[in-house]
Amino acid sequence: MAQSAAGRSIPIVSPAEGVSEELIRQLVETFYDRVIRDPELGPIFQKPLAGRWSQHLARMTDFWSAVALRTTRYQGKPQAAHRGFDLTPELFALWIALFEETAREICEPEVADFFIDRAQRIADSLQIGLGIGPKALRLP
Ligand code: HEM
Repeated sequence: MAQSAAGRSIPIVSPAEGVSEELIRQLVETFYDRVIRDPELGPIFQKPLAGRWSQHLARMTDFWSAVALRTTRYQGKPQAAHRGFDLTPELFALWIALFEETAREICEPEVADFFIDRAQRIADSLQIGLGIGPKALRLP
């Protein structure tokens, strides 16, 4: 582990090390299987993804493949995709907790650290974009 300027631990495992497309697919499928059954998060996903759940899973597999393996399959707009849902820091904390639990079950410890670190950073950045959460700048 190294320390970032902000004092956060950065897993030093190189992205591709220990990560395969098969692992990503398993992580995504298991995670969203839990998300959809979560009483708070599930309903947020059900309506917009009705009838195209498998497309969402494929897109999320592409997304994580881009993050972890530097593939270029993901071409979406994550910030725009999260507008209009009334998301809160509490919902993001729940999402992260479920993701962390899943990654720890499925991945080797250092690989889990890598995914969790990236998920947290992206969650921070989404919350900044949405103007919510402790790191978001609230301009008058
Ligand atoms: C409270 C937490 C979150 C909720 C409720 C949530 C919900 C959603 C929903 C409903 C969609 C589908 C939008 C659509 O296609 O109509 C979506 C897409 C997506 N989410 Fe999240 N999300 C959350 C956090 C995150 C985090 C932390 C990440 C990344 C680490 C993430 C990554 C993505 C990506 C990449 C997409 C696909 C965007 C695209 O269309 O290209 N989400 N999310």
